[in-house]
Amino acid sequence: LTIDIAATEEWTRLLSLHARAPRIREQFARDPERARRFSVEAAGLFVDFSKNRIDDGVLRELIALAHRAGLDQARARMFAGEPVNATEDRAALHVALRDRSSRTYSARGAEISSLVRAELAKMERFCAHVHSDARGFRGDPLDTVVHIGIGGSDLGPRMAVDALKQYWLAGQRTLFVSNVDGRHLGDALASVDPARTLFIVASKTFSTLETVTNARAARDALIGRGASDRDVARQFAALTSNSRAAAEFGVAPDQVFSFWDWVGGRFSLWSVIGLPVALQIGFDVFAALQGGAAAMDRHFETAPAGANAPVLLALIGLWNRNFEGAAAHAILPYDQRLGELPAFLQQLEMESNGKRRRSDGAPVRVQTAPVVFGEPGTDCQHAFMQALHQGTDVISADFIVAALSDGELAGQHELLLANCLAQSEALMRGKTEDEARAELAAAGLSAAEVERLAPHQTFPGGRPSTTILMERLGPQTLGALIALYEHKVFCQGVLWGINPFDQWGVELGKALAKAIRPEISARGERKPAASRRDSSTNQLLDRINALRSRAE
Ligand code: F6P
Repeated sequence: LTIDIAATEEWTRLLSLHARAPRIREQFARDPERARRFSVEAAGLFVDFSKNRIDDGVLRELIALAHRAGLDQARARMFAGEPVNATEDRAALHVALRDRSSRTYSARGAEISSLVRAELAKMERFCAHVHSDARGFRGDPLDTVVHIGIGGSDLGPRMAVDALKQYWLAGQRTLFVSNVDGRHLGDALASVDPARTLFIVASKTFSTLETVTNARAARDALIGRGASDRDVARQFAALTSNSRAAAEFGVAPDQVFSFWDWVGGRFSLWSVIGLPVALQIGFDVFAALQGGAAAMDRHFETAPAGANAPVLLALIGLWNRNFEGAAAHAILPYDQRLGELPAFLQQLEMESNGKRRRSDGAPVRVQTAPVVFGEPGTDCQHAFMQALHQGTDVISADFIVAALSDGELAGQHELLLANCLAQSEALMRGKTEDEARAELAAAGLSAAEVERLAPHQTFPGGRPSTTILMERLGPQTLGALIALYEHKVFCQGVLWGINPFDQWGVELGKALAKAIRPEISARGERKPAASRRDSSTNQLLDRINALRSRAE
């Protein structure tokens, strides 16, 4: 089913178009309609991709490439619940989780919509229970959640809870614990009252080292404070596709919430993995988040490629990666509450498409996922934007911003907006050496000073960026934004011919950690010299063990 896009006529034509493509600044000067023509609106999001070095010819070929790669068929297969996750022989039906219409979905032929409805209804009832009559082992209300999960079982809910702070229910609090570093859980436990805490263990497999270790430690902490096994059963909930393991752990069966093998970890926020979000903001607002994503799904499924926001975002990303040579992509939310979005998208893009084999096992002959990184603006401007403006590499960027903000200091929003627009304008426009010279001369510098400083104050420009604008950050726009990126990642997977839904690349490290673990000495213990690995790993092991053997 997959093809080598680099061997297509479209690719060859794109290469020659790239060689001739005028600079973005010139394209803006030439075409006053450029911004309007290279923008699209979908599900409450306005996506302006005109500050990328594309023109009509490039866009036409990119769209032809998408058709050639079978994007339309692949999308239909995903919505139809066919095993688009070929290496694991699974469907990928996150769209079914958030579709509240009467449409029925099937995964590999078996109807799933009733399962989804039942599980979400169970989750809604549980939210009502926790918010009203649930009690901890000392009879207190459960107004605190410690959510224990990692990767896809952590990043989505963590990001959504932060982003929707405006909707937090009064008196309700959520902490996220992911790292196996005991400090993470330790710090969380130190800042909550365990007697008022609901511990949520989120793990699709219920076997992830970090999550299982932290869950056991949290259970021990609760028991250590006087809770019984029965209390543990009531003060723990589990979100998993391995309900047997959750029951064995000691969670009450009616507090085990299921999801299925056709929900990828990185795409699981819409499933019961959203429980901490629903507890923090209320189930109705969580449903609105799902609704925003569903609106983007309808758009993605029906809009023609040239007006399809996720398809266009994917094509622009591919153009920047494969033709402009951008090995890194910055996510720049000009919104403090989207501070966790870069980390979420980092996993979504890099764990999905950071691969070098096509689904059929053949090598991918072009570059795949770029390094994704980011920070909210304006902080990013005082950290790494220097390199985007004047560094030797082209780094592409997505700016994400809302026109309006609420709260007491909403007046500052104008400054935030101005900075966001200024950054993308500066990246695109740059400053020529002549312009720099003229500015320095106008500032009264001597001719020698002008010559000395002008090269440093020159900006190459032509640095590509896309701006995603919304009216306000809220559940619907956040849902649409996440779905936009989910579908972008899917489309790029199709174009590169890779399966975005597996993650075999994380396994080797997990296996080695298991093997190394017994070789780490307990504090104060002497271990024989390591000799089984490369000399670097042996040396580090010996040093660590020597340091640990000296500890009290
Ligand atoms: O990091 C690898 C990974 O498998 C991710 O894909 C996944 O989101 C995460 O671990 C957590 O997995 P689980 O939900 O099974 O604990």
